[in-house]
Amino acid sequence: MPAYKVVPGADQFYALNEPAIGTAYPESVYPQNAQLPTLFQPLTIKGTTFKNRIFVSPMCQYSSNNGYATDWHLVHIGGYATRGAGAICMEATSIVPEGRISPEDAGLWEDGQIEPLRRIVNFSHAQGTLIGVQLSHAGRKASTQAPWVHSGLGHGHSWVASKEDNGWPDNVWGPSELKFSETYPQPKEMDEAHIQYVEDSWIEAVDRCKKIGFDFIEIHGAHGYLLHEFVSPLSNVRTDKYGGQPLENRLRFPLRLASRVRAAWDKPLFVRVSATDWAQGPEKGEDDLWKQWGIEQTKIYVEELKKIGVDLIDTSTGGNWVDQQIPVGPGYQVPFAHELKKAYPDLLVGAVGMITEPDQAESILKDGKADVVFLARELIRDPHWPMVAATKLGVAIKPANQYERGWS
Ligand SMILES: Cc1cc2nc3c(=O)[nH]c(=O)nc-3n(C[C@H](O)[C@H](O)[C@H](O)COP(=O)(O)O)c2cc1C
Repeated sequence: MPAYKVVPGADQFYALNEPAIGTAYPESVYPQNAQLPTLFQPLTIKGTTFKNRIFVSPMCQYSSNNGYATDWHLVHIGGYATRGAGAICMEATSIVPEGRISPEDAGLWEDGQIEPLRRIVNFSHAQGTLIGVQLSHAGRKASTQAPWVHSGLGHGHSWVASKEDNGWPDNVWGPSELKFSETYPQPKEMDEAHIQYVEDSWIEAVDRCKKIGFDFIEIHGAHGYLLHEFVSPLSNVRTDKYGGQPLENRLRFPLRLASRVRAAWDKPLFVRVSATDWAQGPEKGEDDLWKQWGIEQTKIYVEELKKIGVDLIDTSTGGNWVDQQIPVGPGYQVPFAHELKKAYPDLLVGAVGMITEPDQAESILKDGKADVVFLARELIRDPHWPMVAATKLGVAIKPANQYERGWS
């Protein structure tokens, strides 16, 4: 047998990593690994074992070609696949063309979009890294400019991506005809048939995820996009069974969608929620009416998602109220993850938001405030963060064979 081990079944020559990159070595090889920090303890969800608890948070790249992933994505995602993350969640990927945030967003509404994603997933798997995708619909925040395009236009400029910008401002949909802000598109109210069309399109995208070979799906229910718009009383003022004051009505569509995705997908299923709108005033008024979306309704929503069989709640906040006041600081969203964890100890919960330090990440997990951490900006600044975190926490984890000399 040749001494050189290659990844079996891979579509190219790749050197096999044993154990997989980012996995803690056995204690027999590195005695310091006897007491593994929680961050580097594996986690098994529905038979899928994640090698550590550092998850790459979904990050829009505004770099797709009519929804098709490009080599930018291969390099960007590939960088995380080779550097020890426990899992990668690919960016918000729209289930219909008009559900993209910007014209350059990722999509999974047609079969042609399968192949470029499969290439990325195959690469990630060949490096021993699990990879999933965040399926999304931007609702009333669709047809907007990529951030760097918008910032180049000057202060006060509209966010709307016009037809000349390949946008679709007259085909933007939400639960109600309420704009996110004056500089955003005017949404149209989705009728029952449109709700059904979105739901069916979502399931078709799930079927494409199976063909691609993704390891998990995250439903994007946060940040003021369609599903968040449905659950919040600030964006949903419908008078039919899908909206208005009764929470049951506002939850109806997101829960039906989640249960259909659950029925169609037997691998791990995550939902990202915004646990508050961060709008001014209380969640519920003295008149007993819901004023904004908050943790009390989130808990009820999450209880229902748990009953449906959702495996993990990724706990974010905000994005639905233009005048939101967010007390941004280290771990500013962790208290919401903790609330959910306290309410449902046997439900897996993810924490996200300004988690940058290995000690900080470890204490969130060790203190039982969450089960995994999602990192975005810190991983942009330092894609090697899992390796650096292991070093700081005194754990020996496997670097990629090719990078081993940098870490010895
Ligand atoms: C470039 C960039 C793109 C993002 N795109 C998405 C996205 O596609 N879906 C999503 O749910 N959140 C998205 N986010 C939010 C992050 O996933 C994360 O929740 C947020 O940045 C807070 O975490 P952090 O402090 O570790 O960056 C994005 C953030 C950044 C910086």
